[in-house]
Amino acid sequence: MTLKIGILVSGRGTNLEAIIESYKNNELGEVEISVVISNKLNTSAIEKAKEHNIDTLIIEQKKNNNSELYDEILYKSLVNKGVTKENGLIVLAGFMKILSPWFIEQFKNRIINIHPSILPSFTGLKAQKQAIECGVKVSGCTVHFVTADLDSGPIILQESVKIKESDTIETLSKKILVEEHKIYSKAIMLFAKKKLRIKGKKVMIIDNN
Ligand code: GRF
Repeated sequence: MTLKIGILVSGRGTNLEAIIESYKNNELGEVEISVVISNKLNTSAIEKAKEHNIDTLIIEQKKNNNSELYDEILYKSLVNKGVTKENGLIVLAGFMKILSPWFIEQFKNRIINIHPSILPSFTGLKAQKQAIECGVKVSGCTVHFVTADLDSGPIILQESVKIKESDTIETLSKKILVEEHKIYSKAIMLFAKKKLRIKGKKVMIIDNN
């Protein structure tokens, strides 16, 4: 059964672009990127998806919008595009909205996110800034399953980068982004090939070839 991927974005879209490149190179396995959805207008992420002829949708989320109602519309839109709880994977690629527990339950263990730190350190916004200010010598990125607790779901993959004294938030962010682009596609491929098993807080990567 082909895995139907829905990618949710809000802005720049470099992770989206890296995933699309892996997809076009047939590196993700038996998958289809069914839709890219943005909750913001005028994002370069949507432009990038369009350049690659991938179906896009903008479901604008205005300030003070009812979050749960938004998530219901989002859910129905995904299902409309063929991304269901049976065959779907929701990939958050810089999606700046906290999903409701209801939405997360609909796609239980089928939503993944990338975060620019080695979780559980530096959850939430501006993780690179938090790392620089904390003075850690190593940071990195994490792909994890999404649960109702922010940035705390079972960890699929992580990659580290060294922090030099000369690093700034910008240089660190760039170094981390290079690694993000590698591990996000790899995590999607592992999911598509059914190599991930969640056991409590842990994700086992099984090698069944
Ligand atoms: C990345 O740093 C990612 O880790 C975080 O949001 C940022 C999205 O960047 N979740 P982009 O839109 O993929 O370029």
